Amino acid sequence: MSGYVDLHSHIVPGVDDGSESMEETIKMLSMAYDEGVRTMYATSHFGSGKEKYDKTYLLEQLEKVKKAAADIGDEGIVILPGNEIYCRSDSIERLKNNEALTLNGTRYILVEFPYEIRFDDLFDSLKKFIVSGYVPILAHIERYGCLYKKYENIAQLKSTNVLMQVNCSSVIPKLDARASYIRKLIKDGMIDFLGSDCHSTDWRKPCMQSAIDVLKRKTGEKILEKMLFTNHEKLMKNEFI
Ligand SMILES: [Fe+2]
Repeated sequence: MSGYVDLHSHIVPGVDDGSESMEETIKMLSMAYDEGVRTMYATSHFGSGKEKYDKTYLLEQLEKVKKAAADIGDEGIVILPGNEIYCRSDSIERLKNNEALTLNGTRYILVEFPYEIRFDDLFDSLKKFIVSGYVPILAHIERYGCLYKKYENIAQLKSTNVLMQVNCSSVIPKLDARASYIRKLIKDGMIDFLGSDCHSTDWRKPCMQSAIDVLKRKTGEKILEKMLFTNHEKLMKNEFI
């Protein structure tokens, strides 16, 4: 597989607070293509109250995005299905019922929580996904108070097989005051995936290459290779990372 993988996006139009039209989606895809992205997960919100779709409509829209993405640039972008699942008491049941989507039908799920959640509650909820056979990837971990500059908490989650995703914009100093801490986590091999979490052409817009340019200056090649390519190859094969 060539090019970068964007694990987290709101590229499907008219289903959540992301892209509002197919026209906007195509502009976002072109920007992502120019940033080197060739695979993108469409992770529309699920369970957060931001979604405005039924699953049939989402899947129809997703098919349209797939077709449009195949025509972007010379190589096209491959769009894969998923959801950003806002953890609720019925999330596992809704996954089992195939209402919520795992990442490309694998055991991996992208999951988010209220940002003010207590660490113990976060840990317990994530463990429930694991016990039920899923591998949770915690979305934009930089946003949680119980993880920000709480290195030991992140290590504890990682030791139970929780994976970590950060947003591209969060490693760029001019875009995020937390950037140096996030870069340190990446340098230490604590982060497993990058995602744009793009919502539009200007709000959290695609900026994969800009983030990687910053990281290349300070992060070892092996760590970057794993975060950008190897981990995703394993995910696609449904193997454990
Ligand atoms: Fe998101």
